[in-house]
Parts: sequence; C-alpha cells; structure tokens
Amino acid sequence: MDRIVFNKPFLTGKETEYIQQAVLSGKISGDGLFTQKVHSFFEHRYGFKKVFLTTSCTDALEMAAMLVNIEPGDEVIVPSFTFVSTANAFVLRGAKIVFADCYGHHPNIDADAIAGLITHKTKVIVPVHYAGIACDMDKIMALAQKHHLFVVEDAAQCIDSYYKERALGGIGHLGAFSFHETKNIISGEGGMVAVNDARLIERAEIVREKGTNRSKFFRGEIDKYTWVDIGSSFLPSEIIAAFLYAQLENIELIQKRRLHIWQTYFDGLKHLQHKGHLKLPFIPAYATNNAHMFYLVCNTPNERTRLIAHLDRQNVHAIFHYLTLHTSQFY
Ligand SMILES: Cc1ncc(COP(=O)(O)O)c(C=O)c1O
Repeated sequence: MDRIVFNKPFLTGKETEYIQQAVLSGKISGDGLFTQKVHSFFEHRYGFKKVFLTTSCTDALEMAAMLVNIEPGDEVIVPSFTFVSTANAFVLRGAKIVFADCYGHHPNIDADAIAGLITHKTKVIVPVHYAGIACDMDKIMALAQKHHLFVVEDAAQCIDSYYKERALGGIGHLGAFSFHETKNIISGEGGMVAVNDARLIERAEIVREKGTNRSKFFRGEIDKYTWVDIGSSFLPSEIIAAFLYAQLENIELIQKRRLHIWQTYFDGLKHLQHKGHLKLPFIPAYATNNAHMFYLVCNTPNERTRLIAHLDRQNVHAIFHYLTLHTSQFY
C-alpha cells in the first residue's frame, strides 16, 4: 500500500520551463519579469495595495517588524499557538511578546481576550489565521484603531482565503505569506509581504533592499543609490519567482483539488465527531476555507499519541502541530 505522506508538493509542470526562461533571459537576481508578474497577480486578484516577494514568510514578518518601527520594550500581542517566526521576528527588534490564548472551540486567537492584554506599551497585534481560516478581524481591527496599534496578519497559510469577502493578508496594515513547500502555492522556500497601509510602501521597498534606495535607482528616478535606512536582503531571485508564477497560474486547479480532498476527509470522519471521539475543523460564518490543512482535535494528548501511532501502522503519516510558544525553552 502507498504511504500517505504528510505533504506532497504539487507541481504544475511549468515550473522548470519558467525557470529556464528566467535563466536564459540573463536576469536571475531579484525583481525581474517573473517577480513583476507575481506582484501584479496578487495586486489584481486580491486587491492588495502593494506586495513584495520575500525569501520566506519569516523574512516577511521580520520586514514587518522593521516597518512598524519596533523598539526595545514595545509589546506585541501574539497567539501562543503559532509558529516560532510569528514571535521571533519581533523579538529580534527587542519587542516583549505578550501571548494571547486561542478560543476553546477554535485554534485562532481569542479576539475578546486581546483587549485585556493591551497596555500603553503595546504596538502591534499579530493575528495568525490558523489553517487558512480567518480570525475575527472586525474585532481585532476595531481594537487596533481604538488604541492606535498596527495589525500584522500572519497569513502564512492563507492564500486564497477570505474574511467577509476580504482577502486575508489584505486587512491589517501588513500581511505576511509563505510559499514554503508545505503551503497551497509553493516555491520551495518563499514568502511575500502585502503592504496595505500606503504610508508604509515607500519604506518597504527600501527595507527590502538592504536599507538602500536601489529600487528607485533601477527605475531611473535617481542617479545613484545609497544607504538610507535599516534593512536586509529580503528579495528572492527570479528563479524562485519563476517557479512561483507557474504555480499561481494554476491556482484554481490547485484549490479545487485541495478542497475536494479536505471535504473527503471531513465527510469520512464526521461520524467520529458525532460520537465525541474527536473534533473536526470549525469554520466560522465570516470565514472561507482554503483547505490549507486538515486537522483534528483529540480529547487528550494520550489519545493523540496513540492515534498518530495507529495511523503510522496504517501507512498514514499524521503529525501533531504547534507546541505552544509560552511553554518553549527559549521563552
Ligand atoms: C503561522 C506561520 N507563520 C510563519 C511561518 C513561517 O513561514 P516560512 O517557512 O515561509 O518562513 C509558518 C510556517 O509554516 C507558519 O505556519
């Protein structure tokens, strides 16, 4: 029997052709033709004000932390149930992480619990849309507006998913996406920052280019480029962008197949939820499902361990997910 692996990267067949085109074009560093194609795809399809490809979502989050000017002592509210980069990107700039709990019925950040965590030092709220399912963004944005905070959406898992008809990653001031090979749309490693606050666009271009105004220079707007801000090397090569574009061209097909597989699991496991053996994913009325991952919640950690071992014996590779960050060794 074939083993059902945890993740199997889907290839459209065009990836190597586009990489070849990029190579033959003689321009394989960043911000060439394929990067432009990817940028306009996202800006047109999802209405993001401005996007910039990065080499990972981790990089996109680190860029975001620079753009919102995190300074030592600033507080950033992050769910504890998330990937390390959500918090680490802000820790690198000296922030103090304030962990928020998730809902009892859903792995997303409990929007009603955030207000009690806000102090005069709070600068940013970072909602993580777990499994591509939206957090309660109206509540989060209202809190941010009231207390003059930034919202950086960790949209690592959220491509093609919506909150009340608004694309995830396009609601907060900034959104960070991942194209790691476990995501819906992939480029091996890869990421993107969506800049939804027009005031941050010019600086985003600089921070992404090592703190220089090199992008302006390449567009012929200035006659030499120089060091104007902090920054790092966040832009990926055209080889990555070419791979990614081949995937994006097939987003409808990829999403259709993922949703079909997701629904097959859901329908096949429903009876176990009725019997109280486990909980299946819950999708609030304000959210869409992008079928990023199929997760289930066991009644106890022991049951989870036994289920994973049982599935392994049946040639199904299931894994447990995030270990909460507030219990991590580093924290
Ligand atoms: C919620 C979340 N944020 C950030 C990341 C980091 O993404 P990347 O591997 O592209 O840096 C991940 C990775 O899976 C993630 O799940």
